[in-house]
Amino acid sequence: MTHIASATRPVVELECKGIVMKQFSVLCSLAVLVSTGCKKSEDGAVHKKPTEGSSAASATESIELSISCGSVGKDYDVCKEGVEAWSKKTGHQAKVVSSPTSTSEKLAVAQQLLGAGASDIDVFSVDVIWPGILGSFLLDLKPYAKGAENEHFPALIANGTIDGKLVAMPWFIDAGLLYYRKDLLDKYHAQVPTTWAQLTETARTIQDAERKAGQKDLQGFVFQGKAYEGLTCNALEWIASYGGGTIVERDGKVSIDNPRAVAALDLAGSWFGTITPIGALNFEEEEARGVFQSGNAVFMRNWPYAWAMAQDPGSQIKDKVGVAALPRGDGDATRPAATLGGWELAVSKFSAHPAEAADLVMYLTSAAEQKRRAISGGYHPTLPSLYSDKDVLAASPFFANLADTFKSAVRRPSTVTGSKYNQVSSAFWNAVHGVLAKQKSAKDALAELATNIERLKGPKW
Ligand code: GLC
Repeated sequence: MTHIASATRPVVELECKGIVMKQFSVLCSLAVLVSTGCKKSEDGAVHKKPTEGSSAASATESIELSISCGSVGKDYDVCKEGVEAWSKKTGHQAKVVSSPTSTSEKLAVAQQLLGAGASDIDVFSVDVIWPGILGSFLLDLKPYAKGAENEHFPALIANGTIDGKLVAMPWFIDAGLLYYRKDLLDKYHAQVPTTWAQLTETARTIQDAERKAGQKDLQGFVFQGKAYEGLTCNALEWIASYGGGTIVERDGKVSIDNPRAVAALDLAGSWFGTITPIGALNFEEEEARGVFQSGNAVFMRNWPYAWAMAQDPGSQIKDKVGVAALPRGDGDATRPAATLGGWELAVSKFSAHPAEAADLVMYLTSAAEQKRRAISGGYHPTLPSLYSDKDVLAASPFFANLADTFKSAVRRPSTVTGSKYNQVSSAFWNAVHGVLAKQKSAKDALAELATNIERLKGPKW
């Protein structure tokens, strides 16, 4: 199996009571960090807890902010370019802090920092499923947006609004996509699959024939199978596309224990050891992309960012890749389903520089910056106006072709379950992982899961 070497990230060093800690992503270090009160090693400035909404910088003083961007694919680099442009414009400094690749680990870090009232990070990138979990720690951005919020898709603004406060500004949209090797499908006169059964068969036929011909490492289908939020996204796509619902429905009903969901998981379980390597039980986005981009998979499920990377000049699969909507389930009442993902930007209530931090957020979520990000990184804008911009359309084939996939994307039940979403999701991804690892039957796992989710729900969400 081929892995991509992780991109080199500058290591942020934080000095805590004489201990120098490396790598922001180490959770235990963060626990020490928040409990001891740290100073940043570069400027020696002591971070005191500010009063909410106050700004320590005068209008002319140059200050330094910290922003935690993403770290999957080009996330870090593309974000840093935007942050540097803001610094140039304003004269303020902003340090881009490295974060874990898994959104579930990122959430744990954010919860530890914010729960302890730490002021070390001013601006957080926030997954679309987090506002209900972190909302009370985030600043109301409405006064700083000055109407800019009206330019974004209203559903995303609603998603970032908690108890009447706009706690997160939309930054980019994600939806699950099917990537396929055009050259291999052509070679075997195969169609792009529109059902999961077709995908299973095509993957197997091409994988077996190519292996016989000498390409021993070729896999049929790779995706995110590790026990984390990414698996929730993948499994929701299988289940929703089989007409098996969305785990918890919008009215709060726990729907996961149903025969369509069982059928979807039975099929997914059959992929391991046949068209999907057992190692995919530990794959996040980048591991799946690593296998696909090194030419070792026929199909991959991933987010839009993988397109820009597949088309990079050094990519081994440049111009050999097609992108389509994910397949639908078999039988009646099925439809293709892509999980709706995406990221927003938020300001910590504990930031010492809320006005400047909010200014950075407004800059990074503005039309000009989202256009730049769409062209250089394939990030889907949150502003409807950019969907008719010709430069944006030219940069990515699926802005126009797969518009329906984005419009009809399936939401995870994060609004209805609110602050309990992560518990619901982790119960779900663990149950699914057990099925994929063949520790339990789909039927038993989902019956047990429904009981656990009902328990989390209590009398109501
Ligand atoms: C992507 C999506 C995000 C999702 C995550 C799962 O980053 O944008 O919404 O939670 O993948 O791995």
